[in-house]
Amino acid sequence: MAAFKFDFIVVGSGAAGLLAAHKLAASGRVAVLTKRTPEVSNSDLAQGGIAAVTGPDDDFPLHIKDTLRTGAGLSDPRVVDLTIKEAPERIRELVALGTRFSARRGVFELGLEGGHSRRRVLHAADSTGHEMERALLAACRSDKNITFFPYFSAVDLILRARPAGTRPARNACLGVYALEEATGRVHSFLAPVTLLASGGAGKVYRYTSNPDVTTGDGMAMAYRAGLPLVNMEFVQFHPTCLYHQQAKSFLISEALRGEGGILRDADGRAFMKDYSRYQELAPRDIVARAIDSELKRTGANHVYLDMTHLKPAFLRRRFPMIHAKCLALGIDMTRSPIPVVPAAHFFCGGVGTDDRGRTVMPGLYAVGEVAHTGLHGANRLASNSLLEACVFAHRAALAMKEDPVARRSSGRPLHWTTGNARPSDEAVIIKHNWDEIRTLMWNYVGIVRSDKRLARASARMKVISAEIVKYYWDFLPTRDLLELRNIACLADVIIRSARSRKESRGLHYTVDYPAVSPRFARPTVIDRYAR
Ligand code: SIN
Repeated sequence: MAAFKFDFIVVGSGAAGLLAAHKLAASGRVAVLTKRTPEVSNSDLAQGGIAAVTGPDDDFPLHIKDTLRTGAGLSDPRVVDLTIKEAPERIRELVALGTRFSARRGVFELGLEGGHSRRRVLHAADSTGHEMERALLAACRSDKNITFFPYFSAVDLILRARPAGTRPARNACLGVYALEEATGRVHSFLAPVTLLASGGAGKVYRYTSNPDVTTGDGMAMAYRAGLPLVNMEFVQFHPTCLYHQQAKSFLISEALRGEGGILRDADGRAFMKDYSRYQELAPRDIVARAIDSELKRTGANHVYLDMTHLKPAFLRRRFPMIHAKCLALGIDMTRSPIPVVPAAHFFCGGVGTDDRGRTVMPGLYAVGEVAHTGLHGANRLASNSLLEACVFAHRAALAMKEDPVARRSSGRPLHWTTGNARPSDEAVIIKHNWDEIRTLMWNYVGIVRSDKRLARASARMKVISAEIVKYYWDFLPTRDLLELRNIACLADVIIRSARSRKESRGLHYTVDYPAVSPRFARPTVIDRYAR
């Protein structure tokens, strides 16, 4: 087994990973592991934008207030405060790196999204994530201290061999094992400091706005290594993904509602006024639940987002990518309403970190969607996620460079062994379990939950998980198998988190406890080794 040695390892090539790699490269050699090509990430698909106070009618207290209100009592006010106050500096840095946000006569065009009391969303038309990734990738690719490892899937964290009885999370992280897709070999990537920037886990659900790579690998690896996962029940369902047989996972940005889009049922009735005084611009949990309730009430497969009252020239200019994509599928959004449904979009929970991206495991950091920093609480304010990615990539990079662990020798790693594993001869098991987990999570652990549904999901997941664990140890790893093991691990953690929260708050809504309870005004922590 080959070992690669670096000063820093970054797992993931989204905005958080690339910005951190760019900053770390000034202090040492950086390996960036990515499951496909570096361009493929959830950040790349982000449409709406990045929230920051830059407008003349806006100020920090307003953005802080909107974030805390949306977080429904579970955001950490200190983390909210620092994130929002550091936002303008990160925006200046992105611009200096070459990101071209939409602007007129040198002034940023600001978008409005649900939960925001002001226009404050910087965007690059409707392809903001792609534009940020373009600039960040160019910066990283021109840096000789950064090496990309495309088509390498992280398998597990490499831990220091520890005396029996030591709690794993108190161990040190020495790097990651990663599967090279082309050869099927597992390599050791060793570095004193490792950063998880591997994104979220939308693929745990049958319908998601996320790309295929978002299988929660970093969250699952951390959990297996003994790190606690925090607030995993708070899964954000985006209210409006395109409903179309030939288009998988295509998001219809919230920015459309910000510009006046109206949600209508099949009879053309605008229904959001029945659910919130903020109507289409209520926070996402409210809009997604409203659509879910309309679908259940009417038996329809989808609702509509109507933009036809807006000027066609404006729609084509403001939403060129969405307009073109819909048109290619036979929907002219300037003339007819867009069929939409909710889909899993973002995980507010993740690997617990401090305000510098540090986890409880020496040598291990986490930033972006994989992490729980305390910013989002029980529900994320729209366009605060790219912001969190940038603020914490900056903070983590500073901390990683100064980390005392980085100056120590790496210690003796636990070695990767394949035992008696052989090549898989029954890929059908992977396909079957993959489909079953994602359907079960959608039906039983989705937008609206109940004790009975969660109990069913839990019982079923026990059987599936046992099957997957056996399969994992019997056969040599493939990317499909690794991803299945990770979504199974996270499905179980999400169910346990949801079952432990006996109230409805933010994104977690259960018919059995429909009210907020002060007893649960605290984060949920799921720890594999807790007794
Ligand atoms: C969107 O464009 O609606 C997504 C933005 C976000 O998730 O914050």
